[in-house]
Amino acid sequence: MSAERHIVWHEGSVRKSDYRSRNGHGSMVLWFTGLSGSGKSTLAHAVHERLFRQGWHTYVLDGDNVRHGLNSDLGFSADDRTENIRRIGEMAKLFVDAGMVVMAAFISPFREDRDRVRAILEPREFIEIHVKCGLDRCEQRDPKGLYKKARAGQIPDFTGISSPYEEPLNPEMTIDTEQLNVEQAVEAILDYLEEVNYLKGLNALYI
Ligand code: ADX
Repeated sequence: MSAERHIVWHEGSVRKSDYRSRNGHGSMVLWFTGLSGSGKSTLAHAVHERLFRQGWHTYVLDGDNVRHGLNSDLGFSADDRTENIRRIGEMAKLFVDAGMVVMAAFISPFREDRDRVRAILEPREFIEIHVKCGLDRCEQRDPKGLYKKARAGQIPDFTGISSPYEEPLNPEMTIDTEQLNVEQAVEAILDYLEEVNYLKGLNALYI
């Protein structure tokens, strides 16, 4: 395919390992998946702020924001969601190549789409975090008033109401936001990262 299109991969002389060495930490994607209103963005931003204040190179990619720009041409059909996640996965990979820790907060309702992102990254670069919260509770929270509109038939293909959500079968982490508050959830995520040796700064696995 690429030969036909006359494009050749250019290998830069500054490599992922060089960015990581200079940053003093590894690079990876923390992928927050869950229903609308489950707390993905809140957690992604809270973890981001903690790591950022520690001097880490981090960034948040968030559904509502990316859909204002790069993916403003996409809607919520199954095909559009797949394309949404494909592009975001590729974008996240670029951030990882640039030595950053990416917090990605997207409903990403389809297992296959999330697995495809996992597959384009190296082992251990993709940490799937299931932000678990029952539909009833998300609907009660309804921070953007969208469930109400979806129930009234004003938003088609709404996840959990008229479009499916496929829970991860084997995520690196599950965070139950009906049980944990934001602080506790952030601690649990940082504890996990510590446990699997991601917070020890430079890590042999990364270089
Ligand atoms: S995804 O399914 O393609 O991963 P994404 O995370 O980018 O979704 O965007 C979800 C956000 O779009 C929700 O938080 C909500 O604010 C908004 N939204 C608008 N329409 C829908 C819909 N039909 N289903 C789910 N979310 C929607």
